[in-house]
Amino acid sequence: MHEEIIGRILVDEDSLQQRVKELGQAVSVDYEGKDLVLICVLKGGVAFLTDLMRQVTIPHEIDFMAISSYGMGQRQSSGVVRILMDLEANIEGRDVLIVEDIVDSGRTMSYLLRTLGARNPASLCVCTLLNKAGRRVVPVPLDYIGFDIPDEFVLGYGLDLDEKYRNLPFVGVFKEAQPEQHRTAQR
Ligand code: IMP
Ligand code: MG
Repeated sequence: MHEEIIGRILVDEDSLQQRVKELGQAVSVDYEGKDLVLICVLKGGVAFLTDLMRQVTIPHEIDFMAISSYGMGQRQSSGVVRILMDLEANIEGRDVLIVEDIVDSGRTMSYLLRTLGARNPASLCVCTLLNKAGRRVVPVPLDYIGFDIPDEFVLGYGLDLDEKYRNLPFVGVFKEAQPEQHRTAQR
């Protein structure tokens, strides 16, 4: 089904689930007694959020935010971000943990930290499943990282190519032999 699009599997399903469990346990310890709100950044963060929340053993809320970032070409986000759907929750005075699929240039996360920080949460931290540190343009503090990955375009477990393949239960590297599709990749 995905053989034409995936060159190799970077993080398999068992490794993902094991790491998500560890992250859930760490969050449960760190936020014990706090007013935790997990904020999922749609759409990429949705697979991670739904698995992570089931590994968090303390009471918490979830909320969603949808943003669109304007690209500057196939492999760059401009950092010009627009909120398509805002949070339902008022996060003032609360302990907010942003749950993201991947931090690449850091532009999107930098925008989110500024925007949500302006709403005066008690604390604001970041949990990203994947970190492409080699591509960072804007430095952003990452509190929880699932996996550090090399500079390769990846798909699956929430991450898309043209809105597809988010459903793959693993993270795979895009097969570079399909330049037409790579060019139109949604970042
Ligand atoms: P940044 O603003 O450059 O850090 O880009 C972050 C966003 O770009 C992520 O939330 C993803 O939606 C997208 N992105 C970055 N790298 C990849 C990738 O390898 N595969 C799919 N989407 C990616
Ligand atoms: Mg994303």
